[in-house]
Amino acid sequence: MKYLKESSENAMYRTIDADIIRKDFPIFQRMIHGKRLVYLDSAATSQKPISVIKSIDEFYRMSNANIHRGAYLLSEESTILYENAKKRVSSFIGAKSFREIIFTRNTTEAINLVAYSWGRKNITEDDTIVISEMEHHSNIVPWQILSKEKGCRLLYVPFDKDGMLDLERLEGYLKKGVKLLSITHVSNVLGTVNPVHEICRMAKQYGTTVLIDAAQSVPHMKVDVSEIGCDFLAFSAHKMLGPTGIGVLFGRRELLEEMEPFITGGDMISNVSFYETRWNELPWKFEGGTPNISGAVGLSAAIEYLDKIGMERVYLHEREITKLAWNKLSEMEGIEIYGPVPEKRGGLIAFNIDGIHPHDIATILDREGIAVRAGHHCAQPLHERLGIPASVRASFYIYNTEDDVDALIHGLKKAKSLFGT
Ligand code: ALA
Repeated sequence: MKYLKESSENAMYRTIDADIIRKDFPIFQRMIHGKRLVYLDSAATSQKPISVIKSIDEFYRMSNANIHRGAYLLSEESTILYENAKKRVSSFIGAKSFREIIFTRNTTEAINLVAYSWGRKNITEDDTIVISEMEHHSNIVPWQILSKEKGCRLLYVPFDKDGMLDLERLEGYLKKGVKLLSITHVSNVLGTVNPVHEICRMAKQYGTTVLIDAAQSVPHMKVDVSEIGCDFLAFSAHKMLGPTGIGVLFGRRELLEEMEPFITGGDMISNVSFYETRWNELPWKFEGGTPNISGAVGLSAAIEYLDKIGMERVYLHEREITKLAWNKLSEMEGIEIYGPVPEKRGGLIAFNIDGIHPHDIATILDREGIAVRAGHHCAQPLHERLGIPASVRASFYIYNTEDDVDALIHGLKKAKSLFGT
């Protein structure tokens, strides 16, 4: 296959040839401040291959019409494209049926849907919601609002100095009774890969409902909801080569059937009279109004691209690049890297360099054509816990090469020399 390179260790685990992959991404033809683009911010949003861009272009050129509406060819075509995208997502994450797949705007909206529709019906003032200290704001704010509204408890599972979740504390909470556990699969700052299979097994023993925030895992590794055993799982298309404005909520059918709608209006109904409405079947019950049809088409093309490579290879490539970056960063003086060793993390590294503000580092790197994120990465409580206001984050994907890592190290050395540190 054209994307792969032979590995001397084991032909079964041939990894990706990122130099070839890059050719599928038009943005890498761009120069940034006269330099080659080194894109190290895929945890914020990924770049898009030409097949995804073309699929959206083709949809608007050839098949654009509203779905579930007209008895005419274009509407039938766009309906099929939209529903096929849902089926592709369903099989990509191992759901039992497309009825368990709800298209939202993004991970944030998917989590809000659960907080609103499931939470308002099921949480009472006697209940406890548990999240962790390594969540990003999307998996904190909805639960803060719900717990304040219901007067229930919101507890946090801490992480240790190596960035690992305190599973004993979690079990302690679960033993006392937890109605909902909402936890990230991969931390967007520490990079920690949480053992979600084990966590779900533990939670199920105590009858706890579990939501997994998979925004940083579904794009980068094989995620199977049936194997994990979670009740809900949320992710965004734009972090996995797809377009912005479309995300996914997986929900177990039994739970979704019992839930009330989130956004109400057209398409989520089966019948409306002047004073009463009956809801549509799953999954449309949760998709009020005209959905993001072109987004679904783009997401489907993104999954097709990832499937061609294979998620195991995506994961292995990122692990290699992350390990290389981690080793080289660790050799630098005055650097502090947050989170666990490469073997226990996903494809991102957040760090600080003594005496240089993260924003200054990002600005100096930008002049070298290198894009990194600087700030709190929508995870202020996590940074508070680390005792820092901000960090620099380099995050990797299938198109990153060893040259990108070298460029990062070179840029950081330049920043250090400019600041005399
Ligand atoms: N949560 C996204 C990030 O980590 C936006 O950058």
